Amino acid sequence: MQAITFVTQKGGSGKSTLCISLAVAAREAGLSVCILEMDRQATISDWADHRTADGPEVAQIDATQIDGVMARLRETAYDFVFIDTPGVDSPGTLSAIRAADLCLVPCRPTPADLRAFKPTLAAIYRLEKAFAFVLNQTPARSYRIRDASDGLSVLGVLPDVTIVSRTDHQDAIGFGQGVTEFNPKGQAAAEVRGLWRWIERRMREIADIGAGHVAAA
Ligand SMILES: Nc1ncnc2c1ncn2[C@@H]1O[C@H](COP(=O)(O)OP(=O)(O)OP(=O)(O)O)[C@@H](O)[C@H]1O
Ligand SMILES: [Mg+2]
Repeated sequence: MQAITFVTQKGGSGKSTLCISLAVAAREAGLSVCILEMDRQATISDWADHRTADGPEVAQIDATQIDGVMARLRETAYDFVFIDTPGVDSPGTLSAIRAADLCLVPCRPTPADLRAFKPTLAAIYRLEKAFAFVLNQTPARSYRIRDASDGLSVLGVLPDVTIVSRTDHQDAIGFGQGVTEFNPKGQAAAEVRGLWRWIERRMREIADIGAGHVAAA
């Protein structure tokens, strides 16, 4: 079981939206996923309430519960646990970063977003966690994407997929679906599938590095 934490203090950057659609895409790729929601805003629990399809399982937890829940989940057959965090600094955020094998930091290509993730990044560095940015809600074509990509790739890993701002993301959530279910042939679905493929490769690399450390010990 590996854990992916969606984290950045910048509200509205797309943590919950990407968590949902990537969880659905991962399930479509044959993997078992559950979601831990640490945000009282309950975006994902609301989504699950509107959902008619099976899975992923969603549980609302707080900072005091995460260590116990993660210990229990490690005994299960889940391939992945996704952890969604609130858009404000909270006690849960640090524990969610600590629990992660990979932190995903969604970021819109705006000066405000590009500044706002710095405290999050400092916490990720402090806890020595692997992380990747995800450029989200980008215009379809703009110099801003290139500028933001150049800036972010200097600071850390950036997937080769950018998530464009598309209404499919908003509509899918309203229907209790991921974008790949809502409009399987759409561009939003293709981007999310591409992002999941990138993340899956990265998770395999992280697992291999972990196994290497164990072997060397
Ligand atoms: N790629 C996208 N295209 C269009 N709309 C998007 C996209 N990603 C997110 N959104 C929209 O942006 C808004 C904020 O997204 P979301 O709730 O996922 O952000 P968040 O980071 O979880 O916010 P918070 O910090 O408040 O929890 C939502 O209305 C969502 O539908
Ligand atoms: Mg959210």
